[in-house]
Amino acid sequence: MLNRQLDYIKNITDFEPEIVLVLGSGLGDLGNEVDAQCIINYRDIPGFPVSTAPSHNGKLIFTEISGKKTAIMQGRVHLYEGYTPAQTVNPLRLLRKMGAKTLFLTNAAGGINSSFRPGDLMIINDHISSFVDSPLIGPNDDTLGVRFPDMSEVYSKRLRNIISDTADNLNIDIKNGVYIQFKGPNFETPAEIQMAKILGADAVGMSSAIEAQAAKHCGYEVCAISVISNLACGISKTPITSEEVEETAKQIAPKFKKLVIKSIENF
Ligand code: HPA
Repeated sequence: MLNRQLDYIKNITDFEPEIVLVLGSGLGDLGNEVDAQCIINYRDIPGFPVSTAPSHNGKLIFTEISGKKTAIMQGRVHLYEGYTPAQTVNPLRLLRKMGAKTLFLTNAAGGINSSFRPGDLMIINDHISSFVDSPLIGPNDDTLGVRFPDMSEVYSKRLRNIISDTADNLNIDIKNGVYIQFKGPNFETPAEIQMAKILGADAVGMSSAIEAQAAKHCGYEVCAISVISNLACGISKTPITSEEVEETAKQIAPKFKKLVIKSIENF
């Protein structure tokens, strides 16, 4: 399937991305503000998973950010849409086959750490993916990576340091923490968030851990930022809504965009 998809794209463009930037919930605007060299809709790529989540546009945008050839994924696909873990990481594997070496994930996440506030940004240091199936289950594609990949540094220390220094230079306060992934689509219960806190998680979301896992497997250097769009269930005193998640992400977008663009310049 990857080879068929690769042929489809090669017939349209000879663009060779260095960097892949995945834009999460409420953060897709950045994709509309760049000079696109080529845009491909997910639905047009054979066998490609199509985004159905609100605000996930489902477009692959080939462009330059800070002089670096970048493939922007405007929208991702999630387990809760009914896709298998392997399907959710198909786009990342395809872009790796096209030559991309660096993956920059972004997402909206619920804050578990009691010092976090909605609107905070968090560099993901590490993750807990044990509550979702690995995208590496099944026959191993040896052209992508090894059967039993090491996960001791999923999120590159080098890239984390660059993002952290870039945030300092821009006077942007940035947190660090552990991201835990649950399947969704329901938000968690207070007891589940309490459990996640005991396990050492600082933020919770429904997407990025398995993406990072698959990306590490196929040889990307990975980094990720969460926008803390709400306080997680039980930490927040009010019920969580997807509108709140998107609204906070949108409010934070200008700061987020500056940080992403300047960080990529320094990668
Ligand atoms: N839980 C899970 N996923 C999320 C949340 C949350 O509170 N906020 C944004 N994505």
